[in-house]
Amino acid sequence: MTDTAPPRADLAGRHIVLGLTGGIACYKAAELTRLLHKAGATVQVVMTQAAERFIGAVTMQALSGRPVTTDQWDAREPNNMAHINLTRDADAVLVAPASADFIAKLARGQADDLLSLACLARPIARCPLLVAPAMNREMWAHPATQRNVAQIAADGATLLGPDSGDQACGEVGDGRMLEPDDLLGEVVAFFQPKLLAGQTVLITAGPTFEPIDPVRGITNHSSGKMGFAIARAASEAGAEVTLVAGPVHLPTPRGVRRIDVKTAQQMHDAVLRALPGQGVFVATAAVADWRPAAPSETKIKKQRGDAPPSISLTESPDILATVACLADRPYCVGFAAESHDLLRHAREKRERKGIPLIVANLGPATFGCDDNAVTLIDADGEHELPRADKLTLARALVAEIARRLAAQPR
Ligand code: C5P
Repeated sequence: MTDTAPPRADLAGRHIVLGLTGGIACYKAAELTRLLHKAGATVQVVMTQAAERFIGAVTMQALSGRPVTTDQWDAREPNNMAHINLTRDADAVLVAPASADFIAKLARGQADDLLSLACLARPIARCPLLVAPAMNREMWAHPATQRNVAQIAADGATLLGPDSGDQACGEVGDGRMLEPDDLLGEVVAFFQPKLLAGQTVLITAGPTFEPIDPVRGITNHSSGKMGFAIARAASEAGAEVTLVAGPVHLPTPRGVRRIDVKTAQQMHDAVLRALPGQGVFVATAAVADWRPAAPSETKIKKQRGDAPPSISLTESPDILATVACLADRPYCVGFAAESHDLLRHAREKRERKGIPLIVANLGPATFGCDDNAVTLIDADGEHELPRADKLTLARALVAEIARRLAAQPR
């Protein structure tokens, strides 16, 4: 048995038609192709004439491993219908970058080049259109573009971005194409089942840091990776997610509202402030059980010959137990990170905290790692989720939570 999870291939079996239109962001499409490919997708690149001015078809062919199509009159197609053939076995058409001109074409249903033809001719019910705009901020803000964007959205297209920031022209504002990594995340999220659509989920993650003095403190080895993975998975599943994070160095999952805190008390206060209206609370944070009762305002100095200082501790508020006691509590999920007698401790913890579901894992074996193995424990029994990377486990947990929510009496 291996103790590391196999790499995730989030787009395995997916076939993506990647359309490039004219814009300097074409250079990012090269990296995007590589990322889609690495995630397991097959990628068929289609380029407009304008796109070919910005990046070579040879580059895109090498990265996608397939000849690039550029011409509606491509005689290599046996039936001479490249625009039809392109989308018949595609899981999505992704236009990245999508220029203002191309979006205008989509809005009008114009079809005078291979890519716009393919978009119009795609089976609309089973081949979604994802559009990643890329243009100067004035072009993006122009009422004509905004009108066109609203029209393509009304026609069923999904807009990915745009981002805000520095632009190739030297201006700063809205209109940048999303970075390839973010686009990959959006495409992966698009294909996840929307099991928590309409739900609100509050999550705690990471360690807390309890100051002893301005330079020292009590903390633990929690990396926050599991909680951040759950936040991403819940957001992918369509939930509105708020993540209260202890001190960790992790990027915020796209679309997630993040509140940074340091101490257990701050985490407690942030959770209670964010709680109204939440449907689910998932407490993954490794909250310090004790904190120095009276942290020193100045650094405790070491004097030669002095005995070490004694630090008196007081108990931190139990955030999960507090939330689970409320009359209008959300569906509460706790974590038990134990070093031994895992299941016994986890069962006891579930009862003690008064929560419907607890996720048991071996703390020392998972802190900081990219994978984990957990057991879900609820009133009906135990259910193992075998070792996998944390995002895979988080998605499985989200599915389990969604199933339990659906079964709850209303
Ligand atoms: O009490 P214990 O740390 O063993 O329980 C773990 C579970 O309780 C986790 O879900 C953790 O996030 C939560 N917890 C909390 N506040 C605390 C201690 C733990 O929310 N002060």
